[in-house]
Amino acid sequence: MDLGLQDRVAFVAGASSGLGLAVAVALAQEGCRVAICSRDEDRLAVAARKIAWEGGTKPSNVLPVVCDVTDEAQIEAAVERTVAQFGGLHIMITNAGGPPTGFIDDFDADAWRGGLELNLMSTINLCRAALPHLRRAAAADGHARILMITSVAAKQPVPNLYLSNTARAGVQGFAKTLSEELGPAGITVNTILPGFTRTDRLKHFVTEIQAHSDKTKAQIEAGWAEANALKRIGEPEEFAAAAVFLVSGPAAYITGIAFPVDGGRIKHLL
Ligand SMILES: NC(=O)c1ccc[n+]([C@@H]2O[C@H](COP(=O)([O-])OP(=O)(O)OC[C@H]3O[C@@H](n4cnc5c(N)ncnc54)[C@H](OP(=O)(O)O)[C@@H]3O)[C@@H](O)[C@H]2O)c1
Repeated sequence: MDLGLQDRVAFVAGASSGLGLAVAVALAQEGCRVAICSRDEDRLAVAARKIAWEGGTKPSNVLPVVCDVTDEAQIEAAVERTVAQFGGLHIMITNAGGPPTGFIDDFDADAWRGGLELNLMSTINLCRAALPHLRRAAAADGHARILMITSVAAKQPVPNLYLSNTARAGVQGFAKTLSEELGPAGITVNTILPGFTRTDRLKHFVTEIQAHSDKTKAQIEAGWAEANALKRIGEPEEFAAAAVFLVSGPAAYITGIAFPVDGGRIKHLL
């Protein structure tokens, strides 16, 4: 299937490692020009080289931009730089790191604000910055795409992940509302919900969980795998394949959905 991604311009946030990086590689392999952001210049430079190498594309087709997605001004500057470099923007993929775990008494008001800035406000502000350019792209050739990387927590809260569980629900409400408004312009808006997937985030998460548990890390991971229909932890490339399809040309009639890539973790019928 031709995914219609050749020469399209994508911005992938939080893409120096993990899911964002895997998505950026997969987009480059499909012929996209890709801007990636994260906070650390050195990690970004390494990621940009990996994307060009594994994506089989010229280094000039990959733009690393240092940007903390909790800072609105940095987001605006990063999106403007992308458009200046590549001449437009067709695809916005929102993403960031995950917030800390804990019990209700562990979080003061500042911690709550931090979690919401990281996973809710960043999503809204990335979309706001991208919108004028996505509207222009859709007006020119009929379509543009927004995809928000969230978590299975959007459908099924994960124990001790208060900040994530709360922010993801907000993102879902934002995405569904935005999909209605942007539909007539040909801009699709979807969320994609990773389950347990082998990234740095998962390593930190298992360490945090182990601090409150008498189980080993291996036992904790085995429990996660066992709760999935497929009985294993996912790989970033498996997540990326689904993400790439959702921002592709053939995904034109899919909008307003929350798409789990979770190995059968979520147990709801719908
Ligand atoms: N992996 C899983 O099993 C899983 C499951 C459910 C949900 N998720 C969610 O999926 C998202 C991505 O997870 P991941 O596993 O790919 O995590 P990861 O491997 O830790 O990667 C996170 C990426 O985001 C960047 N980042 C973090 N904070 C940022 C900020 N303020 N501004 C810009 N970039 C930032 C990091 O780079 P720098 O640190 O250099 O900025 C890194 O590139 C997270 O929200 C996570 O909670 C993951």
